Amino acid sequence: MKRLLVLAAAATAMFAAHAQSAFPSSKPISLVVPFAAGGPTDRVARDLAEAMRKAMGGNANFVVENVNGAGGTIGVAKVARAAPDGHTLLVHHIGMAAAPALYRKLPYKMPDDFEYLGMINEVPMTIIGKPQLPANNYRDFENYIRANSGKLNIAHAGLGSASHLCGLMWQSAIKAKDAMTTIPFGGTAPAMNALVGGQVDMMCDQTTNTTGQIEAGRVKAFAVTTAKPLSNNKLLKDYPTLQEMGLKGFDLTIWHGLYAPKGTPPAVLAQLNTALKAALKDPDFIKKQEGLGAVVVTDKRVEPAAHKAFVIAEMNKLKPVIEAAGKFAD
Ligand code: MLT
Repeated sequence: MKRLLVLAAAATAMFAAHAQSAFPSSKPISLVVPFAAGGPTDRVARDLAEAMRKAMGGNANFVVENVNGAGGTIGVAKVARAAPDGHTLLVHHIGMAAAPALYRKLPYKMPDDFEYLGMINEVPMTIIGKPQLPANNYRDFENYIRANSGKLNIAHAGLGSASHLCGLMWQSAIKAKDAMTTIPFGGTAPAMNALVGGQVDMMCDQTTNTTGQIEAGRVKAFAVTTAKPLSNNKLLKDYPTLQEMGLKGFDLTIWHGLYAPKGTPPAVLAQLNTALKAALKDPDFIKKQEGLGAVVVTDKRVEPAAHKAFVIAEMNKLKPVIEAAGKFAD
């Protein structure tokens, strides 16, 4: 019996060593982004790929793979089903916690189908409108919506996306759930193109996607979704919070995390978490993210266990909020 135990221990050690030595293999590490290219999630992934490549000494080739549709759930399902070898990872956001309360059946199980590698950043959101809107502050904007109830539309990136979640919570808070039609896109990059072109009226989106457009005057900004004003953000510091505009308790910040399929070997997870932590300390990564209003996570949520606990807590926090405000997707 003792010999068997010794053999089993040796085999396990060999497998772990093999997993360690075989990772990364010559094939690229795919960072799946469950939204269209050019949006805020894509932005985070591309910046992260560059920083993790550096952190892994350049011997890991990262590629960003956009797999959009169904509010991001198609891309998430692809990673849940991928080989657990460390070569297919998911960059996603609050949608990981929101989708289970928005879909009666998801093509993956939360939280069990994933390994949690660590949080990446936190990003405020902005309520924005097309340039032609006859409103130049939040109060006029909300009055315009009420005066045109049923005639306006709001863009988002599909059920379960951050822009959808924000729109849902905001419309519920201003009691305008039926005042506007929702228009889904494969991501907020195509949605932003429609907004700038005047084909849609408004949207709630992350500052990583809206900062440049607001600065260029291609969209109008009306408010930020965080509890506190963005006083450190030179562009957004003077925009009111929705709480200041009378929406009691409105507080929404989007977060992004890095995920792997369940069953990815611990040695590979540890290597990826080490690279993630180094990337989050990379001055170039921090500068890029902070330049777009994002805050890079430096607390314990960069640890896998704390990341998983945070996502589960967010699932429990969002469920009643969504059920009170939301519409179920079949
Ligand atoms: C979202 O609304 O979930 C994201 O902004 C979508 C995206 O990254 O394109």
